[in-house]
Parts: sequence; structure tokens; C-alpha cells
Amino acid sequence: MTSHEVLATELTRARDRTLRLVDFDDAEVRRQYDPLMSPLVWDLAHIGQQEEFWLLRGGDPTRPGLLSPQVNELYDAFVHSRASRVDLPLLPPTDARAYCETVRGKTLDALGALPDGHPDAFTFGMVISHENQHDETMLQALSLRTGAPLLDRGAALPAGRSGVAGTSVLVPGGEFVLGVDALTEPFSLDNERPAHVVDIPAFRIGRVPVSNREWREFIDDGGYGQRRWWSEQGWAHRQQAGLTAPLFWSGDGTRTRFGHVEDIPDDEPVQHITYFEAEAYAAWAGARLPTEMEWEKACAWDPAAGSRRRYPWGASEPTTDVANLGGDALRPAPVGAYPASASAYGAEQMLGDVWEWTTSALRPWPGFTPMIYDRYSQPFFEGVATGDYRVLRGGSWAVAASILRPSFRNWDHPIRRQIFSGVRLAWDV
Ligand code: AVJ
Ligand code: FE
Repeated sequence: MTSHEVLATELTRARDRTLRLVDFDDAEVRRQYDPLMSPLVWDLAHIGQQEEFWLLRGGDPTRPGLLSPQVNELYDAFVHSRASRVDLPLLPPTDARAYCETVRGKTLDALGALPDGHPDAFTFGMVISHENQHDETMLQALSLRTGAPLLDRGAALPAGRSGVAGTSVLVPGGEFVLGVDALTEPFSLDNERPAHVVDIPAFRIGRVPVSNREWREFIDDGGYGQRRWWSEQGWAHRQQAGLTAPLFWSGDGTRTRFGHVEDIPDDEPVQHITYFEAEAYAAWAGARLPTEMEWEKACAWDPAAGSRRRYPWGASEPTTDVANLGGDALRPAPVGAYPASASAYGAEQMLGDVWEWTTSALRPWPGFTPMIYDRYSQPFFEGVATGDYRVLRGGSWAVAASILRPSFRNWDHPIRRQIFSGVRLAWDV
């Protein structure tokens, strides 16, 4: 396939997924499931609006678009908070679908007219990433929905294997290359670049993420009630929010997942935890959270070759043999499910399953240059952002394989847990 064919395929794949996530009646897609999330119909039209803005209007607000300026502005994420979007005069679902379809037709025409190897191919990749990221956001909204399930229980996953939970691998100290460049990863986003050498001390990191069984031991040991495991900010939040278990857990050993009540699977990575809970769990376990530099080294560095691997396991693209990605599973895979996913250091399940909290605030790498969507990363950098953000790594089960790389950086407030967040421990050596 040519790179244009790949982009066309990925545009279509993302759109199929988006449309499945809004394939409900009008009242449903207009509903706000939780103040933390937009109604699905907002995400839908915003996906189209961003696609039109970057690909058809060249990111130039003075170029006319298909929507009136007033309607266009409703989909500006910097103008309207998520909580307030349900009260805006949004496009009705039928109009939102038609708008997205019209934009998409023009997008495919523009792609067809793009000379091979043209730098604008990056912008197409960026828009594909954006749509897929909103698909994950819509899944977060759907997971907060109450009532009879709309989605089934999800696709089958491989079984886990015993003996891996609670084990760790050694990453010796020394230099490695953090981040990537346009040459090696042409679709990497601005905050992943540029590649640069970093020297970090030796550490150990969990072979796999922390499991529900392990988390249950923390609960049973009274971890949520013991001040000593929590940071000052974490304890204040734990008290104020009344946290006693991960989101969606009930006291009786069951959880609710997309409306289905089910036993909490012991061997699944714990999901729906705040940064503060992850931090407290780590302290209780005699560990700590990794920095994002440690995480990326454990994921991508090949010490024997003295270079980065494209994926933890090597050069081959992700398949269902090595990672749980793409969103169809609707849950993480059990720990040990992907022995073939091991990085050079032996860390498994680094990509997919759950986003892993790191201690790092979002900062630009030295030499950072904003991409055309210059408000994608920069407003959230430490010192610029009014709020506090922590970086999460590795992607969840809801992330599309085609947008994920070991260098991919996500971020959120440390109090958030409607996201598909989990934790992998680290230790000093
Ligand atoms: C990178 C996931 C934090 O959802 O706020 C979507 C992605 N940016 N539209 C977000 C994003 C603009 C972003 N995260
Ligand atoms: Fe967006």
C-alpha cells in the first residue's frame, strides 16, 4: 500500500469506529452521562469540525468553512467546558452525521490530490489520531452511562499466565534515546519530538501492570484509610472524594462495566484509578511510580543494539498476538496474556490494556517545536497550564493501534479516573 492508501484506510477505520459509538437514537447521543464528559453528539461534530479545520481550511480561521462561525465555535474545546456542552444549541445528530460525511468526502478528495510524500500527509495522520482519541473519550462517556447496557461485553481476549503478577525486570542505568524524530516516526506528534539522549540511573519496573487481585490486597489491608501511604494532596483528595476502591467497583466483589455487573477478574490489570491512588498503592507495596523517561526506556530501548525499537517487541506492527488495542475488547487483557510483547528488558503489555500513570508532569522535550495544531500540547505544559497534569503512557485497550507508539504521551489531572488508567510499579535499585 502507498502511504496515501494507508491514510485513506485509517481514515475509514476511524470513522467506522466513530459511527458505531454514536449508533444510538437521538435522545441517547444528546445525553450527558456525566459532567466530566461531553454528550456523544458533541464529540461527533467536533471530530468533523477539526477535520475540516486542519485538512480543508489549512488551520486558517479566516478561511470560510461549511458551518457558520457561530455553530463552528460550539465545537471549540477551549471555549466550552465539557460540563456545559449539553446546554449548547448543538447540531442535531442527523445534521452532525451529514456534516461529518460531507467533510469526509472532501478530505478524501484532498488526499487523492496530494502529491506523494507531501508534508501535509502529517496533518492527515494528526487528524486520524484526533478522531481515534475522541473515540476513546466517547468510550469513557459510555462507561459512565447508567442503565441497561448499550454495548455487549466485548471481544474475546487471550488468557493470562500465572507467575508474572508482582514480578519485575531490571533496567540497567545509562544513556538511551528518549523521543522520536519525523524521519523515523513521520506521524509522531509534537510532544514526542525530538529524539534526544538521556542518562538515567538503573531501576526495576513491573513486568506487567498491577492486577485487581493485588489491588484488593491493598483495600483489604486498609490502604485507603491509612494516611501514611498517601501524599498530602492525594490524601486531601481521597478524603474529599470519599475514595474507597477503583471507580465502578462495588463492595461485594463485583464491578459495573458498560452497564454489565460482573465479578471483578483477579488477573486483569486494575483500571479506573486516580494518580493519587496509584501513588498510595505503590507506597504500600514498597515501590514507587516510574517516571515517563524510565517507562519509555523500559518499553523501547534495545541495549544490545544501542538503538530504539519501533515497538517493545521489535519492528512488526501490533497484532492481537502482542497487544490488546482498538477498543473492541472493552476491557484490559489479563496480566501475562502477551508473552510475545516483551520489550528488550522483558517488560510485557507495555502497549494497550491500561494507560499507566507516571510521576512526570507534561513538559516539552528540549528543542520542542509545536505542530500545526499548536494548542494540542503547549497549553498543557507545566508552567503554562493552570491545572496540574500527569503523563500516562502505553495506551489503553481503547487506543487504535495505528496511532500508538512507545513515545506517545497522554496526560490528565491526577484526580481523574473515568479514563482507562492503571499502574505499573517501579523501584530504585
Ligand atoms: C491527549 C487525550 C489529553 O482529550 O484532551 C483531543 C486529546 N486534544 N482533542 C484530550 C485531544 C484535542 C487530549 N489528550
Ligand atoms: Fe478534540
